[in-house]
Amino acid sequence: MIGWQCPVCQAPLDSTENTWRCDANHAFDRAKEGYTNLLLANQKRRPDPGDNREMLLARRAFLEGGGYRPLVDALDRRLNNFDAAGRLLDVGCGEGYYLQQLLASRVHWRAAGVDISREALRLAGRRGLSNATFAVASSKRLPLLDHQFDAVLNIFAPLDAAEARRLLTADGQLIQVSPGPAHLQALREFIYDQLRPHSAPAAPEGFTLIARDSVAFNIAYQSSDQLRQLLAMTPFAYKLTEAQQTEFIAQSNTLAADFVISIYQPALGAALDVH
Ligand SMILES: C[S@@+](CC[C@H](N)C(=O)[O-])C[C@H]1O[C@@H](n2cnc3c(N)ncnc32)[C@H](O)[C@@H]1O
Ligand SMILES: [Zn+2]
Repeated sequence: MIGWQCPVCQAPLDSTENTWRCDANHAFDRAKEGYTNLLLANQKRRPDPGDNREMLLARRAFLEGGGYRPLVDALDRRLNNFDAAGRLLDVGCGEGYYLQQLLASRVHWRAAGVDISREALRLAGRRGLSNATFAVASSKRLPLLDHQFDAVLNIFAPLDAAEARRLLTADGQLIQVSPGPAHLQALREFIYDQLRPHSAPAAPEGFTLIARDSVAFNIAYQSSDQLRQLLAMTPFAYKLTEAQQTEFIAQSNTLAADFVISIYQPALGAALDVH
């Protein structure tokens, strides 16, 4: 079982029923789609924070079409280094594609997915994963009990290093995916006059880098639709007019994906911090 925490008083939540409750009787209903909202109104700056439905549906269609399959395979190989059973947290899990893929062969694992977008969790919850629970929460304050996760996954989403340290076991690993130097290069060249030089990702505070994988490949898109989905799921879509997007799609026959997977461990002593 994943240990969830009451966002009001930080006590453990009993999450076995449809209403999650702490001893002080703070209660949170599980939505019919299968996620629980643990984001308090005073933790939001906007009424609907995070990715919107249009971006999420575009991402889902692109990912389900296998657009980033080599990245899933590389993450899968990394998780093979763990025991046959463990606990995994995906911070900024979006619509749940990576958790579903990674849990498919890991029936003895238990997982939690959190994202600040309620729409993302609606989609993730509806996947009906038997060994994952989903909650709306901010990466800045994750409503989960301390030091329970063997792995924290963080793919192109905000992360709070102190929270990741608080949640990992002492020998747990943070698996962080960030863009590599050639990621969507042709698209970025189409948008910007000059590309900023790429710098290697910095270790989050209190973590030590133990390994780094580079995953670079040409996206095998089947149709212009898939390229349109890719544009719609990235912030680049907002930089291009409809006509520019059509022009880019017409002239592209290949596009590079380039990811860096960084594996970090809590620096010595850091995992035992008390907050
Ligand atoms: C680029 S998407 C990546 C989603 C997913 N990891 C994937 O690769 O498909 C970034 C995600 O971070 C979420 N997000 C943004 N700010 C957040 C925050 N403060 N806490 C938790 N999630 C956040 C967004 O709602 C969005 O789903
Ligand atoms: Zn409480």
